[in-house]
Amino acid sequence: MGVAEDSFFTDKVAIITGGSRGIGRATALAFAKAGADVVVNHSKPEGGSKKKAEEVCRAIEDLGRASLAVAADIALKASVGEMMEAVSRWRGRLDFLVLNAARAPFKPIEKLLEREMRQLVETNYMGNIFCIQKALPLLEASGGKIVFISSLGSRFYNPSYPLGSMKAAMEALVRDCSETLGERGVSVNAVCGGIVRTDSFKTLRQYMEDLENIPEELCVSPEALADVVVFLCSPGARGIRGQTVVVDNGLANRLYRPAWAKKNRG
Ligand SMILES: NC(=O)c1ccc[n+]([C@@H]2O[C@H](COP(=O)([O-])OP(=O)(O)OC[C@H]3O[C@@H](n4cnc5c(N)ncnc54)[C@H](OP(=O)(O)O)[C@@H]3O)[C@@H](O)[C@H]2O)c1
Repeated sequence: MGVAEDSFFTDKVAIITGGSRGIGRATALAFAKAGADVVVNHSKPEGGSKKKAEEVCRAIEDLGRASLAVAADIALKASVGEMMEAVSRWRGRLDFLVLNAARAPFKPIEKLLEREMRQLVETNYMGNIFCIQKALPLLEASGGKIVFISSLGSRFYNPSYPLGSMKAAMEALVRDCSETLGERGVSVNAVCGGIVRTDSFKTLRQYMEDLENIPEELCVSPEALADVVVFLCSPGARGIRGQTVVVDNGLANRLYRPAWAKKNRG
């Protein structure tokens, strides 16, 4: 990285919500490579969710760092409270909170069922606030950092992507929390990702015509996002407050997309 003192992350503790797969998994491993111990949150106590979180924990331990998998549904305040208690019992400290978990239906706004709307808000808006509220005592004690994971849906139209409105709200939260928590020694920023070929991308491509045709060079890897998350937690980012950094391999910068257009003609 070249910006963090070698020992800065050593023995510090990061929690990644939704750390069992995709961008969350890459972020958990990036923190471990930097020297931190990592709490891998996932949503369900059994099945594939648990198995994947445990696999990430093993990969963290192979990197020589300690890890803890914690099943907690971030949409439930009591569940988040229990997770933070588990973190407190485990290491007694928390330095980095990465708000990565997301769950949402892919459909047009006018077709959303009431329960889907509630899930959208409860997971992607309220869930992140529950995490901040419950983690705050530990983060205040360590002078910790919060990094949210947003997406380009916060600022551009995507078909069947109601999560975009939650990401827009998230980016407003980043500005708000940066001011209110900054006074208490906690720094807050976000990374806004472009297109990342994770499990959620596999679902999204069923709803977005042409998504497959986006050239590989305009997609971004989970690791590229994860590196920026770790950077935002490092001393090199000490001057960055309340910002959302776009990491999209230049996708949002391109109005002109020749390769994409050629494919459509063919
Ligand atoms: N993929 C993209 O193109 C892209 C682009 C920009 C930003 N993003 C953002 O990056 C983040 C990660 O995306 P991804 O594509 O890596 O997602 P993903 O592969 O769908 O993984 C989602 C993760 O969130 C967890 N999760 C979902 N609901 C949860 C809940 N209520 N409580 C706790 N954990 C929960 C899942 O846990 P289980 O394993 O237990 O289900 C899983 O670990 C999201 O915020 C997404 O919006 C994605």
